[in-house]
Amino acid sequence: MGVSGVGKSTIGKLLAQDLNIPFFDGDDFHPESNITKMSSGQPLNDDDRQPWLETLNALAKKELIKNSCIIVCSALKQKYRDIVSKEIESKTKWVHLSGSYEQICERMNSRTKHFMPSELLQSQFDILENPTEALQIDVSKTPQNIIRTIKHELMDASEFGVFGLGVMGKSLCRNLANNGFKISMFNRHVEGLEEDIATNFKTQFKELSQAAAFDDIAAFVNSLQQPKKIMLMVNAGKAIDDVIEDLLPYLSESDILIDCGNSNYKKTKERYEYLKTKNIHLVGAGVSGGEEGALKGPSIMPSGAKEAYKKVKLYLEAISAKDKDNLPCCTYIGPDGSGHFIKMVHNGIEYVEMQLLAEVSTILEALGQNPSEIADTLESWKGQASSYLLDITTSIFRKKEGNDWLVNKVLDKAGNKGTGNWTAIASAELGVPSTLIASALFTRYMSFYKEERLQLNKSFKKGSYVKFKITFNELFEAYQFARIINHYQGFKLITEASKSYAWNLNLSEIARIWTSGCIIKSKLMKDLVEIFKNTSNLLTHKKIIETLNQYKSSTKTVVLQSILNDVSIPALSEAIQFFNGITTAYSSANIIQAQRDYFGAHTYQRLDDNSGKNYHTNWK
Ligand code: 6PG
Repeated sequence: MGVSGVGKSTIGKLLAQDLNIPFFDGDDFHPESNITKMSSGQPLNDDDRQPWLETLNALAKKELIKNSCIIVCSALKQKYRDIVSKEIESKTKWVHLSGSYEQICERMNSRTKHFMPSELLQSQFDILENPTEALQIDVSKTPQNIIRTIKHELMDASEFGVFGLGVMGKSLCRNLANNGFKISMFNRHVEGLEEDIATNFKTQFKELSQAAAFDDIAAFVNSLQQPKKIMLMVNAGKAIDDVIEDLLPYLSESDILIDCGNSNYKKTKERYEYLKTKNIHLVGAGVSGGEEGALKGPSIMPSGAKEAYKKVKLYLEAISAKDKDNLPCCTYIGPDGSGHFIKMVHNGIEYVEMQLLAEVSTILEALGQNPSEIADTLESWKGQASSYLLDITTSIFRKKEGNDWLVNKVLDKAGNKGTGNWTAIASAELGVPSTLIASALFTRYMSFYKEERLQLNKSFKKGSYVKFKITFNELFEAYQFARIINHYQGFKLITEASKSYAWNLNLSEIARIWTSGCIIKSKLMKDLVEIFKNTSNLLTHKKIIETLNQYKSSTKTVVLQSILNDVSIPALSEAIQFFNGITTAYSSANIIQAQRDYFGAHTYQRLDDNSGKNYHTNWK
C-alpha cells in the first residue's frame, strides 16, 4: 500500500517473483467508472472505492485458499484496509511504501502511461492515514534492499513475542500459533531449575514448528518485527518491573509491551507513565479463562493508549474467545490501568460467585444430600442459571477417589492471589459498598484460621433449633437473588471508578466480553449485555426489579433457616442485608450523624432544610 506513484507495482512484482507467488495490481481491478473519473481529474470518494476494495478482498480470499499472493493497492485509509483484509485479518500483512511528496511527484512526472495525474497526488497525501499495523518501508532505498527488508521482516522475523512460559504463557503461545501467527517465545535460563524451557516446549506441539524459541533476551527481542510486540506472561508484582528493566535496553521507540498478568491497576498506570517517558507503549491487559481459556480463547480486557492497542488488536482479538455473534471477547477498555481494574472486578465477582456456590452446596449437604446428589441439584439449575462456575462445581461434586468423593478430602483453607483483596481496597477507596466481595474475601481469610476453628468448635457446639426446612426452589431463588446483587455491586464499582478516573467505560461492552472465555461467563451475564444498553443501574431495570421482588421471600427463608441451623452463609445473608439497606428510604444513618456531631462537632444536615446548611447542636 501507499500513495499512487510510490513504486508499489515495481516492488510488488519483484517480491512476487522472488517468492514465486502471484502478483496483482489493484489498479487493474477498478471498475471502468472509477478510471473515467480519475482520468477526468476527479478524486475517488469512499463510495467509488467500496466495490473496488471488496473485489480485492474477494481476490485475496480466493488466492489464500490456494497459497498466497501479493496485491498492491493504495489503501490509504484504515477503513479501506479493513475492507481488503476483512475476515482474513490474521493472514494479511501490510507493507507501507512511503516517501516524501516531492520525491513521489518527481517519479510520477517521469511516468507516461499512468491514469493518475500528479495533481491528484496531493489529495492522496491528504487522506492517507498512516497505518499502525504495517511494515514501514522508505522507498528511497534500492528495490533489492527493499525486497530484502520486507522478506526479513515479514518472513524471518516473528510478528509477536511471548515472554514467560508458565502454564498461561504456554497456552497463549499455542493459541497464537494456532491462529497462524509467527511467534517468538522466551523463557529465562535458571541453572538446574529452568533449562531449555522454550526449545523443549517448541518440540512438543506441531503448531509451534514455525515458532522461534529463546532463553537469551537480546536474541529474543531482535527476532521480532518492528514495532516489537511482546506479551509479558510473568507473575504480577515486582517480577513485571524486573522484566521491564531487562527488556528496556533492547527496545526502541514505539515498541509495545502487553502485560497480561493480574497486575494491580495502579501499578499498571505507574508503569505506563514510566514507559511513556521512554517512548515505549504499555498495554495493560486483563486476561481471564485459566489454562483452557488461554489455549482455546480467553476473555481479554486491554487498556492503555488507543494507538498502541490498535497495533496489537489483531493478535488479541484473534486469540480471544468469541461471543454468540462471533465477535471477539476482547475490546479496548480505556486508558492506563482500566483493563487491569476491570479484570480485578471480574475476580471480585468471581470470588462471590464461588462463595455462593459453596454456601448453597453446604446448605444442600445440611439438608442431607451427598455430593452426587448435590451435583444433581446444581445440574438441575443449569437451564435458568447456567454458568461456567456452576458447571465446574457440578463436576467437582461428582469426582470420586476410591469410594469417597474427592471434594470431602480437600483441606478447607481457601487461598487467594490478591485480586479479591484489591477489589475490596478499591471499593473502600472509591466509597462503594461492595459488601458481597468483602464478605467472600473475608470468608476465605477466615477459612485460614483452621486451628482456631477446630478449637472453638469444641467450645461452641453447633446445633439445629428447628427442622431445616427449605425447598430446592427456595434455595435456587435465593442463589439467583444473591447473584443479581453481586453483579449489581461489581458493575456499580466499575461505574464509580469510571466516573472518578474519567475512563468512560462501556458497561454493556464489558458484560459482552465476559459472556465467553472467562470464569464468570453465564446466562445472567448475557442478559446484562442487553440491560446495560439502557441503564447503568441494574436495580432500576424492570425485569430485575420483578425478579428480586419475586425471589426475596425465598432468600429470607433460606437465610433465616440457615441461621437457625448454624450454617454459615455470609454471602447469602449479606445479599439480603444489602438489599434491605439499599432499598431503605430513611436509614439509621441519621443516628450516626447525630453521634458524630455529639462527640466531634462534625455537624449534620436537616431533612427540613435542603439548602445544604450544616448544623451543630449541643446534644447534652
Ligand atoms: C481468571 C481467574 C484467574 C485466577 C485468579 C484467581 O479469570 O482466569 O480469575 O485470574 O484464577 O488468580 O485468583 P485467586 O487465586 O485469588 O483465587
